[in-house]
Amino acid sequence: MAPIAPKQAELFSPDAFADSDDVIIIGGGLAGLFCALKMAPRAVTVLAAAPIGTGASSAWAQAGIAAAVSKGDTVDKHLADTLEAGAGIVDENIAALMVGQAADRIHDLLEYGVPFDTDLEGRLITSREAAHSENRVVRVKGDMAGKAIMGALVSAVHNTPSIRLLEGYVAEELVMSSKQQVAGLIARPDEGRSQTRIELKARAVVIATGGVGALYEVTTNPKQARGGGAGMAARAGAVIADPEFVQFHPTAINVGKDPAPLATEALRGEGCTLHNDAGERFMVAIDEDAEMAPRDIVARAIFEEVTSGRGAWLDCTKAVGDHFEDEFPTVFGYCQDAGIDPSKERIPVIPAVHYHMGGILTDADGRTSLDGLWACGEVTSTGAHGANRLASNSLLEAVVFSSRIADDIVEHLPVSELHPIGQRSGPEDTTEPSPENLKKLRATMSKYVGVIRTAEGMKKAISIIVELSEKSNSSRFANTITTAKMITVAALLREESRGGHFRTDFPDPVESWKRRTFLTLAEVEKAIEEICETA
Ligand code: SIN
Repeated sequence: MAPIAPKQAELFSPDAFADSDDVIIIGGGLAGLFCALKMAPRAVTVLAAAPIGTGASSAWAQAGIAAAVSKGDTVDKHLADTLEAGAGIVDENIAALMVGQAADRIHDLLEYGVPFDTDLEGRLITSREAAHSENRVVRVKGDMAGKAIMGALVSAVHNTPSIRLLEGYVAEELVMSSKQQVAGLIARPDEGRSQTRIELKARAVVIATGGVGALYEVTTNPKQARGGGAGMAARAGAVIADPEFVQFHPTAINVGKDPAPLATEALRGEGCTLHNDAGERFMVAIDEDAEMAPRDIVARAIFEEVTSGRGAWLDCTKAVGDHFEDEFPTVFGYCQDAGIDPSKERIPVIPAVHYHMGGILTDADGRTSLDGLWACGEVTSTGAHGANRLASNSLLEAVVFSSRIADDIVEHLPVSELHPIGQRSGPEDTTEPSPENLKKLRATMSKYVGVIRTAEGMKKAISIIVELSEKSNSSRFANTITTAKMITVAALLREESRGGHFRTDFPDPVESWKRRTFLTLAEVEKAIEEICETA
């Protein structure tokens, strides 16, 4: 059977899915596609808001996938670096499982046709990134890992008859058959513009919808990364873990673009240095590892330089120089678009939201707190990253846990037939959130729940978020607002600083807070009531 992208008319035919199984994966990025491929030949439906591989952060990843495959490196060293970066709250069992399966998953990707860089003897070439004690990042053509990985997986998916694609469908709500049991989902066709919503029943739903970057004004994530998946799961009652931990990449290219293009950390791994307008190499005074300090430390230092008007620049003219175009073609292209020649000029940089450590709580097999619901990739919080993700562990987490979900579903869920698609009209529910509301939300999150946080600012953010949520009747905006609420309330409750969460009113880590956060939406709503009462 050739892969089918059903046309609108076919969708409402009761026979449309008669020969398919009822596993639905929401998301066409790395986690979703890898999960679908690993489930083959079992039939699955992949529902994606955009053509698969587009609108996904994975395709924009530059550095690569962390795996202890170079000479002298070990899985134990990779684990130790992951625990250290995570600032005391990594789930060690989960992280051990992740780093232990890295080499096998790299092998899978090679089999799907990913052209990882190799030396003349055929050994994988690895780069260095901050907070890694070894060269460990398996890469493609320097900085083209995400694009190459997604290119290979998209063609593998198109050649896998058991995968049915529903592209241009935006998932808006989970369908529940009881308080605990997920029984399908409601999606909006036509890239979310249709006035009619459809209902897809399923016994297994896998959410792989990515992160939250577009909740903020400056982000390296695509505009689709608005926290929709986590919000949708929370609204259905799923437990969300560690939402307060948002990672800022220190070096987005500061040329006023939305999303902001990234200058990979591998550049600093090559010896590129950070300077302010006065030419001062400010990281030297801040951390003994200078530019290779953990990401949160470098991000805060750059934020401080930029907001105090001193500016921040990445200088690659000596460390990379004339090799720039060959070794980092993606960043070179971004710089050229902005009229910068990075082999001869410094690159203006700014911290940008890059990754969410928090998300839907999952176990080692990607199961969530709701029956019938699994999740993988950035939308989850497996516990592998703690308070601060080690660079290039994100693609690794996506492939390891999506593969485990595939095994879990294949092993435990008997094959069955999918119910026909139902149709729901949605006059009560508008399609897109209004651009003004979205703009206000992004400005609020950046100003009050960003690189540097205070109780006063976060309380202000909560009152604005509540006001915005009362104004809208869009399911999609409700998902987005829910995620914003979860991040903000968890950040306000955590009265300390740790990893990606930094508060000037509680600037140090506190021993009693050396634990993960687990919250439901009901608990967050209750906390908001209390916060509003005392305000
Ligand atoms: C980068 O290339 O700097 C990003 C890598 C990552 O976030 O894991």
